[in-house]
Amino acid sequence: MMDITNAFPSERLLDQIADALAGPGFILLDQPLPASLIQGLIDNLQTQAASLAPAGVGRQGDYQRNQEIRGDAIQWLEAGDSAVTEFLCWMDKLRLGINQRLFLGLFDYESHYAVYAPGAFYQKHRDAFRGNPGRKLSTVLYLNSDWDLMAGGELVLYDGAGEIELVRAAPECGRLVIFLSEDFPHEVLPAKQFRQSIAGWFRIKPL
Ligand code: OGA
Ligand code: MN
Repeated sequence: MMDITNAFPSERLLDQIADALAGPGFILLDQPLPASLIQGLIDNLQTQAASLAPAGVGRQGDYQRNQEIRGDAIQWLEAGDSAVTEFLCWMDKLRLGINQRLFLGLFDYESHYAVYAPGAFYQKHRDAFRGNPGRKLSTVLYLNSDWDLMAGGELVLYDGAGEIELVRAAPECGRLVIFLSEDFPHEVLPAKQFRQSIAGWFRIKPL
């Protein structure tokens, strides 16, 4: 059973995240969610393995070309499973906490599981572009038990011009990365093993 009382970000954590977003614009947190919730999500992803589908890029282009840009398979999250529901609750509490502190006007959150097979990658890109209006804040939560640090698969964040590397984060279990979607081009490096995560976006109402 999930420990519901722990499944919310503390005020202190919300302060820390808001400060980072107002400052550098990104933050990397090692274990902000309860370990039992992370395990619940890993178990739920296991049951979804058959329904994962190759991710698209912008409008549905041809599959071969997409694979040269991003090689992950995805499944959009839907509340129902108790771990998924808890996760979406946690993210909604985060949304409200950030709105209170930074007045960003985030109004919803969309998220999907992503599985990268060995060798798959996602080329340098921005999350807020024509095909995805309203994406304001990007989140990535990693679901890899016992990740081997020699296996690659890092997320690399770049400065706004896409030239200077700012952070390189291994997809270690329970790690959460949050960044302003418009400000940081980023890429996923190929890994030697399967790489699992939940990628999500808080959105504002497009004008
Ligand atoms: C994405 C993305 C980063 C990661 O799905 O848009 O950039 O580390 N994911 O999986
Ligand atoms: Mn991205």
